[in-house]
Amino acid sequence: MPLRVVGAGLPRTGTLSLKRALEQLLRGSCYHMHEVFEHLDHVPVWRQAVRGPLPDWETFLAGYVAAVDWPAAAFWRELSEANPDAVVLLSLRDPKTWWESADQTILPAARHEQPPDLQEWRRLFQDLLRDRWGQTDGWNNKGAAIAAYERHNAEVRSTVSPDRLVEWRTGDGWTALCRALELPIPDEPFPHVNTRAEWLKQD
Ligand code: A3P
Repeated sequence: MPLRVVGAGLPRTGTLSLKRALEQLLRGSCYHMHEVFEHLDHVPVWRQAVRGPLPDWETFLAGYVAAVDWPAAAFWRELSEANPDAVVLLSLRDPKTWWESADQTILPAARHEQPPDLQEWRRLFQDLLRDRWGQTDGWNNKGAAIAAYERHNAEVRSTVSPDRLVEWRTGDGWTALCRALELPIPDEPFPHVNTRAEWLKQD
Protein backbone atom coordinates (compact mmCIF):
# COMPACT_ATOMS: atom_id res chain seq x y z
CA MET A 1 0.00 0.00 0.00
CA PRO A 2 1.62 3.29 -0.99
CA LEU A 3 1.91 6.08 1.56
CA ARG A 4 -0.52 8.93 1.02
CA VAL A 5 1.42 11.32 3.23
CA VAL A 6 5.18 11.57 3.74
CA GLY A 7 6.16 13.76 6.67
CA ALA A 8 9.22 15.95 6.18
CA GLY A 9 9.00 18.02 9.36
CA LEU A 10 11.52 17.70 12.15
CA PRO A 11 10.57 16.15 15.50
CA ARG A 12 8.76 18.48 17.96
CA THR A 13 6.77 20.17 15.22
CA GLY A 14 3.42 18.63 16.17
CA THR A 15 4.08 15.24 14.61
CA LEU A 16 2.11 13.18 17.13
CA SER A 17 -0.93 15.43 16.68
CA LEU A 18 -0.48 14.97 12.92
CA LYS A 19 -0.30 11.21 13.36
CA ARG A 20 -3.64 11.29 15.23
CA ALA A 21 -5.18 13.61 12.64
CA LEU A 22 -3.96 11.56 9.67
CA GLU A 23 -5.14 8.30 11.21
CA GLN A 24 -8.57 9.83 11.63
CA LEU A 25 -8.66 11.28 8.13
CA LEU A 26 -7.17 8.30 6.29
CA ARG A 27 -8.57 5.52 8.49
CA GLY A 28 -5.23 3.76 8.62
CA SER A 29 -1.99 3.72 10.59
CA CYS A 30 0.60 6.47 10.50
CA TYR A 31 4.22 5.58 11.26
CA HIS A 32 5.86 7.71 13.97
CA MET A 33 8.69 7.30 16.48
CA HIS A 34 6.04 5.78 18.73
CA GLU A 35 5.94 2.78 16.36
CA VAL A 36 9.69 2.32 16.86
CA PHE A 37 9.24 2.15 20.63
CA GLU A 38 6.54 -0.46 20.10
CA HIS A 39 8.72 -2.42 17.64
CA LEU A 40 12.31 -2.11 18.83
CA ASP A 41 13.24 -4.65 16.13
CA HIS A 42 12.76 -1.74 13.68
CA VAL A 43 15.79 0.04 15.18
CA PRO A 44 18.41 -2.01 13.28
CA VAL A 45 16.43 -1.58 10.05
CA TRP A 46 16.55 2.20 10.42
CA ARG A 47 20.21 2.15 11.46
CA GLN A 48 20.99 0.10 8.36
CA ALA A 49 19.00 2.58 6.25
CA VAL A 50 21.20 5.42 7.55
CA ARG A 51 24.25 3.60 6.22
CA GLY A 52 22.55 2.11 3.17
CA PRO A 53 21.24 0.14 1.48
CA LEU A 54 17.70 1.29 2.10
CA PRO A 55 15.02 -1.22 3.06
CA ASP A 56 12.30 -2.20 0.63
CA TRP A 57 9.95 0.54 1.81
CA GLU A 58 6.81 -1.13 0.52
CA THR A 59 7.53 -4.24 2.57
CA PHE A 60 8.89 -2.49 5.64
CA LEU A 61 6.08 0.08 5.84
CA ALA A 62 3.34 -2.26 4.62
CA GLY A 63 0.12 -1.50 6.42
CA TYR A 64 0.86 2.22 6.93
CA VAL A 65 -0.94 4.94 5.03
CA ALA A 66 1.27 7.77 6.22
CA ALA A 67 4.57 8.43 7.99
CA VAL A 68 5.61 11.44 10.04
CA ASP A 69 8.36 12.19 12.57
CA TRP A 70 11.83 10.67 12.66
CA PRO A 71 13.07 8.16 11.74
CA ALA A 72 10.75 8.10 8.69
CA ALA A 73 10.79 11.87 8.16
CA ALA A 74 14.60 11.82 8.09
CA PHE A 75 14.11 9.87 4.83
CA TRP A 76 11.56 12.33 3.40
CA ARG A 77 13.45 12.55 0.14
CA GLU A 78 13.64 8.79 -0.42
CA LEU A 79 10.09 8.14 0.80
CA SER A 80 8.63 10.87 -1.36
CA GLU A 81 10.44 9.42 -4.39
CA ALA A 82 9.18 5.92 -3.53
CA ASN A 83 5.62 7.25 -3.10
CA PRO A 84 5.28 9.73 -5.96
CA ASP A 85 1.57 10.36 -5.37
CA ALA A 86 1.98 11.14 -1.68
CA VAL A 87 1.52 14.60 -0.25
CA VAL A 88 4.75 15.82 1.37
CA LEU A 89 3.90 17.37 4.72
CA LEU A 90 6.33 19.90 6.17
CA SER A 91 5.36 20.63 9.78
CA LEU A 92 6.79 23.85 11.14
CA ARG A 93 6.83 26.19 14.08
CA ASP A 94 8.70 29.20 15.32
CA PRO A 95 12.39 28.13 15.40
CA LYS A 96 13.09 29.47 18.89
CA THR A 97 10.06 27.73 20.37
CA TRP A 98 11.00 24.59 18.46
CA TRP A 99 14.47 24.64 20.05
CA GLU A 100 13.09 25.15 23.54
CA SER A 101 10.74 22.23 23.02
CA ALA A 102 13.37 19.88 21.55
CA ASP A 103 15.99 20.90 24.12
CA GLN A 104 13.67 20.03 27.00
CA THR A 105 12.12 16.84 25.67
CA ILE A 106 13.80 14.67 23.03
CA LEU A 107 17.38 15.95 22.90
CA PRO A 108 18.28 14.83 26.43
CA ALA A 109 17.80 11.25 25.12
CA ALA A 110 20.72 11.82 22.72
CA ARG A 111 22.83 13.49 25.39
CA HIS A 112 22.48 11.01 28.21
CA GLU A 113 22.79 7.27 28.74
CA GLN A 114 19.58 5.34 28.25
CA PRO A 115 18.36 2.12 29.91
CA PRO A 116 19.85 -1.05 28.35
CA ASP A 117 16.81 -1.78 26.14
CA LEU A 118 17.03 1.73 24.62
CA GLN A 119 20.77 1.96 24.04
CA GLU A 120 20.50 0.87 20.42
CA TRP A 121 17.58 3.26 19.96
CA ARG A 122 19.77 6.09 21.32
CA ARG A 123 22.44 5.21 18.76
CA LEU A 124 19.80 5.43 16.04
CA PHE A 125 18.75 8.85 17.30
CA GLN A 126 22.38 9.99 17.27
CA ASP A 127 22.85 8.53 13.75
CA LEU A 128 19.86 10.55 12.55
CA LEU A 129 21.10 13.73 14.18
CA ARG A 130 24.56 13.32 12.71
CA ASP A 131 24.12 11.57 9.39
CA ARG A 132 20.66 12.67 8.25
CA TRP A 133 20.55 16.12 9.80
CA GLY A 134 24.23 17.02 9.64
CA GLN A 135 24.60 17.89 13.32
CA THR A 136 27.50 16.70 15.40
CA ASP A 137 26.92 19.07 18.29
CA GLY A 138 23.58 20.55 17.24
CA TRP A 139 21.88 18.72 20.01
CA ASN A 140 23.80 20.82 22.53
CA ASN A 141 24.11 24.04 20.63
CA LYS A 142 21.08 26.28 20.23
CA GLY A 143 22.50 28.40 17.40
CA ALA A 144 23.70 25.42 15.35
CA ALA A 145 20.44 23.55 15.88
CA ILE A 146 18.26 26.49 14.85
CA ALA A 147 20.43 27.08 11.77
CA ALA A 148 20.10 23.39 10.85
CA TYR A 149 16.34 23.52 11.46
CA GLU A 150 16.00 26.45 9.05
CA ARG A 151 18.32 24.83 6.49
CA HIS A 152 16.29 21.64 6.60
CA ASN A 153 12.99 23.43 6.02
CA ALA A 154 14.49 25.48 3.17
CA GLU A 155 15.80 22.30 1.55
CA VAL A 156 12.40 20.62 1.66
CA ARG A 157 10.76 23.73 0.18
CA SER A 158 13.29 23.97 -2.62
CA THR A 159 13.14 20.24 -3.45
CA VAL A 160 9.48 19.30 -3.33
CA SER A 161 7.24 20.55 -6.11
CA PRO A 162 4.68 23.05 -4.80
CA ASP A 163 1.74 20.93 -5.97
CA ARG A 164 2.79 18.16 -3.54
CA LEU A 165 4.01 20.23 -0.63
CA VAL A 166 1.76 21.09 2.31
CA GLU A 167 3.22 23.39 4.92
CA TRP A 168 1.51 22.98 8.28
CA ARG A 169 2.29 25.17 11.26
CA THR A 170 1.38 24.05 14.76
CA GLY A 171 -1.98 25.67 15.37
CA ASP A 172 -3.05 25.52 11.72
CA GLY A 173 -5.75 22.89 12.15
CA TRP A 174 -7.36 20.75 9.48
CA THR A 175 -7.78 23.02 6.47
CA ALA A 176 -4.59 22.61 4.42
CA LEU A 177 -4.34 18.89 5.13
CA CYS A 178 -7.93 18.19 4.19
CA ARG A 179 -7.65 20.29 1.06
CA ALA A 180 -4.53 18.40 -0.07
CA LEU A 181 -6.13 15.03 0.66
CA GLU A 182 -9.48 16.08 -0.81
CA LEU A 183 -11.31 15.13 2.36
CA PRO A 184 -13.97 16.98 4.37
CA ILE A 185 -12.91 18.91 7.46
CA PRO A 186 -13.86 16.98 10.63
CA ASP A 187 -16.28 18.67 12.96
CA GLU A 188 -13.97 18.55 15.96
CA PRO A 189 -10.86 20.32 17.18
CA PHE A 190 -7.52 19.38 15.66
CA PRO A 191 -5.55 17.12 18.06
CA HIS A 192 -3.03 18.78 20.35
CA VAL A 193 -0.98 16.09 22.09
CA ASN A 194 2.59 15.40 23.21
CA THR A 195 2.96 18.80 24.86
CA ARG A 196 6.06 19.71 26.80
CA ALA A 197 4.00 19.85 29.99
CA GLU A 198 2.78 16.25 29.43
CA TRP A 199 6.32 15.12 28.61
CA LEU A 200 7.92 16.73 31.64
CA LYS A 201 5.23 15.31 33.92
CA GLN A 202 6.28 11.75 32.89
CA ASP A 203 9.83 12.23 34.24
P1 A3P B 1 5.71 22.07 23.15
O1 A3P B 1 6.88 21.24 23.57
O2 A3P B 1 6.07 23.49 22.92
O3 A3P B 1 4.52 21.86 24.07
P2 A3P B 1 5.87 16.35 18.41
O4 A3P B 1 4.59 15.60 18.56
O5 A3P B 1 6.37 16.42 17.02
O6 A3P B 1 6.91 15.86 19.35
O7 A3P B 1 5.58 17.89 18.77
C1 A3P B 1 5.07 18.27 20.03
C2 A3P B 1 5.06 19.78 20.12
O8 A3P B 1 4.11 20.32 19.18
C3 A3P B 1 4.63 20.27 21.49
O9 A3P B 1 5.27 21.52 21.71
C4 A3P B 1 3.12 20.45 21.30
O10 A3P B 1 2.54 21.34 22.25
C5 A3P B 1 3.11 21.07 19.89
N1 A3P B 1 1.80 20.83 19.24
C6 A3P B 1 1.29 19.64 18.89
N2 A3P B 1 0.06 19.79 18.34
C7 A3P B 1 -0.20 21.10 18.36
C8 A3P B 1 -1.33 21.89 17.95
N3 A3P B 1 -2.43 21.34 17.43
N4 A3P B 1 -1.25 23.23 18.12
C9 A3P B 1 -0.15 23.81 18.65
N5 A3P B 1 0.95 23.11 19.07
C10 A3P B 1 0.91 21.78 18.93
